[in-house]
Amino acid sequence: MAHALTQSDVISALKGVKDPDLNRDLTDLGMIRDIVIGPDSVRLTVNLTTPACPLKEKIRSDVESALRSRLPSDIRTIDIQMTAEVRGKGVREKGDIPGVKNVIAVGSGKGGVGKSTLATSIALGLKSYGSSVGLMDADIYGPSIPHLVGASGRPMAKGDRIQPIEAGGMKVMSMGFLLEPERAVIMRGPMLHGVITQFLHQVDWGDLDYLVIDLPPGTGDVPLTLAQALPLTGAVVVCTPQAVALLDAVRAITMFRQLKVPILGMVENMTGEVFGRGGAAKKAEEMEIPFLGDVPLLTAIREKGDAGKAAAVFDEQAASRMPLLNVVERLAAQISIQNIKKPKMPKLEILG
Ligand SMILES: Nc1ncnc2c1ncn2[C@@H]1O[C@H](COP(=O)(O)OP(=O)(O)OP(=O)(O)O)[C@@H](O)[C@H]1O
Ligand SMILES: [Mg+2]
Repeated sequence: MAHALTQSDVISALKGVKDPDLNRDLTDLGMIRDIVIGPDSVRLTVNLTTPACPLKEKIRSDVESALRSRLPSDIRTIDIQMTAEVRGKGVREKGDIPGVKNVIAVGSGKGGVGKSTLATSIALGLKSYGSSVGLMDADIYGPSIPHLVGASGRPMAKGDRIQPIEAGGMKVMSMGFLLEPERAVIMRGPMLHGVITQFLHQVDWGDLDYLVIDLPPGTGDVPLTLAQALPLTGAVVVCTPQAVALLDAVRAITMFRQLKVPILGMVENMTGEVFGRGGAAKKAEEMEIPFLGDVPLLTAIREKGDAGKAAAVFDEQAASRMPLLNVVERLAAQISIQNIKKPKMPKLEILG
């Protein structure tokens, strides 16, 4: 005899099955879709909040075991499709870039810790999972993104929009594309502000899941301008493991907190014999911010960056591949967590 299973029975069977990162039921998060019930089968889709979800396999097996144990035994086939759709914060706010779901700034309190390398790796990593990604170089005085991704060319204007340069399947914008090589940028604060807001609001970013922004070192004008110009999804703080560097990282964290920019987490870069290890994880715990993982000090990372082949850090055999993918996945999870948090952070009002 045919059973009379309904879609709501399937939904009920999934009560209590959570996205472990978001700590909420998949059903409440609207992640269970396309339920199709056959005579002896149930098919459904789990729509994750990011293709870079670190817990994809766990979520699939949790869904499967809940269905196996709670649905009638004559359901022989349970077919679970895993898909993903990056969510933004859901509501539009003043300063948002239309079509861009998430904007992530990568900063540090100190120069030379690997921000640009990591911003590029994060962008390429998110891209490798199938997301649409943009990479904006906000280091106006010392742009290094064009070199890292091996891109050149001049951004063209189309109407009142500037077309970004395509590199590695991403949309890239940098002051480096607008200058003759080796020319120094001489600019005062208000001009800097103008360039940053143009990069955000006049560049034709199109539809992006993630726009990653590489910040210049320190706690200067650029992060302030960014925080004023748009509601950032959050910031990633990069630091190296040694105590002195951690002090600077704390300064960066304090700055983002003052600017009301959510801190998505801290990455320890250049972990290993030279600078030590573990300092950032400890500091992150102390400061109650997520730790996104560590990336070892590897000659190959520097060489690939120097050669303009940043994407090679993800080559199958590269020692940098797994640590970087780990950072990318943990970050993607934190972005999803940030987006379901309520109420939203109010946009910063700057005096004067
Ligand atoms: N994990 C790593 N292993 C080895 N070399 C690295 C690593 N991360 C970054 N580097 C190298 O360190 C140097 C500085 O990196 P990068 O330019 O990314 O730092 P930055 O923080 O952006 O610097 P700045 O403050 O000048 O913008 C580069 O030569 C880069 O290739
Ligand atoms: Mg840099």
